[in-house]
Amino acid sequence: MRIYISKLCNTETKIAIGKGSLDILEEIEGEATIIHSKKIDPSGIAEKLDNITSIIGIEDGEKAKDVEKVLEIIRLIHRTASPDLEWIVAVGGGTVLDIAGFAASIYRRGVKLINVPTTLLGMVDAAMGGKNGVNFDGIKNVLGTFYQPNLVISETSFLATLPLEEILNGLAEVIKYCITLDQELCVLLESKDKEILSLDENKIEEIIYRSAVNKMKIVEIDERDNKGIRIVLNYGHTIGHAIEAGSGFKVSHGRAISIGMVCEALLAKKMGMIAEEVIEYLISMLKTYRLPTSVRELGVDIDMKKAIEALRRDKKRRRGSIRLPFPIGIGTWRGVEVEVEDLEVCLKSCLE
Ligand SMILES: NC(=O)c1ccc[n+]([C@@H]2O[C@H](COP(=O)([O-])OP(=O)(O)OC[C@H]3O[C@@H](n4cnc5c(N)ncnc54)[C@H](O)[C@@H]3O)[C@@H](O)[C@H]2O)c1
Repeated sequence: MRIYISKLCNTETKIAIGKGSLDILEEIEGEATIIHSKKIDPSGIAEKLDNITSIIGIEDGEKAKDVEKVLEIIRLIHRTASPDLEWIVAVGGGTVLDIAGFAASIYRRGVKLINVPTTLLGMVDAAMGGKNGVNFDGIKNVLGTFYQPNLVISETSFLATLPLEEILNGLAEVIKYCITLDQELCVLLESKDKEILSLDENKIEEIIYRSAVNKMKIVEIDERDNKGIRIVLNYGHTIGHAIEAGSGFKVSHGRAISIGMVCEALLAKKMGMIAEEVIEYLISMLKTYRLPTSVRELGVDIDMKKAIEALRRDKKRRRGSIRLPFPIGIGTWRGVEVEVEDLEVCLKSCLE
């Protein structure tokens, strides 16, 4: 098991990674409510906590993140939790963590949060950093808060039941860290693909740990995303979110950002900021991990109008531009203002 402790403005987040890390829950004191994906049996978690007032099973997936559904979950918490409630324990993939994190941040102006991610994407990204997002009016993550979890437990034994498709979705976020921030992680991904794809315990633990540290080092210097540094964690996400919306959320987050990373790199090349070799490297890495590099590979119709509408309403937009992180070498990046009109051209050529 590996531990990383991240010191943030008002909180400390302890991140435990590896087999057996669920045991840390035995140290938790105070009343807790568990919010879990209906696909995950919460009994192994419940037996480690000695003061649970309610256990709420919820649907997961992107459609479950609609704010109307989230309000129903908050109503359930309100009706079932005791007045002494201290903790919300979120158990599931990124969608459940986003829903529970949002609920924990607004219910009674904040209930302490423990994230137990059960997907690789949750373990390498969604469980930490303190951003949560829920969907409103068909626009992804347009409502949300910053709210740091006190504890993140990435118990890797959950991955045993995760379908390969979902492992690959998580690897898309790992490739995001390697291309923008961590050349050594790229070397590991390149040289140990067989071990990683067969979920070798040591290698999986290592990539989760490196991803967590990469993310939290950025969050530690730009927790509120107002210094132009945290945007690096969004690489591939601006075009990726538009693809997700254009597909009516049929395309998963990981696959959408995989294509988003390629499209944004092509835009960077058009703007003269990235060498062809970096794009070739990125594409070859995504192919190694069986991730799509173009919309054609998805076999899903993307509604161009909906995709463009989502791009135009992107929450990072300021005065007609969005600041994008471009990888300028392997493991290095820089932020560049791009006019939304230029991004629309990029999106259209990606969707053709
Ligand atoms: N807040 C953040 O910082 C942040 C960062 C990245 C992504 N996200 C969000 O996370 C979401 C994507 O997360 P995700 O890919 O985990 O999706 P998800 O929550 O939909 O989970 C994917 C699928 O895996 C299933 N599943 C979960 N755990 C399982 C297990 N152990 N065994 C078998 N099946 C299991 C789920 O039921 C679901 O069908 C998106 O909404 C994205 O916006 C948030």
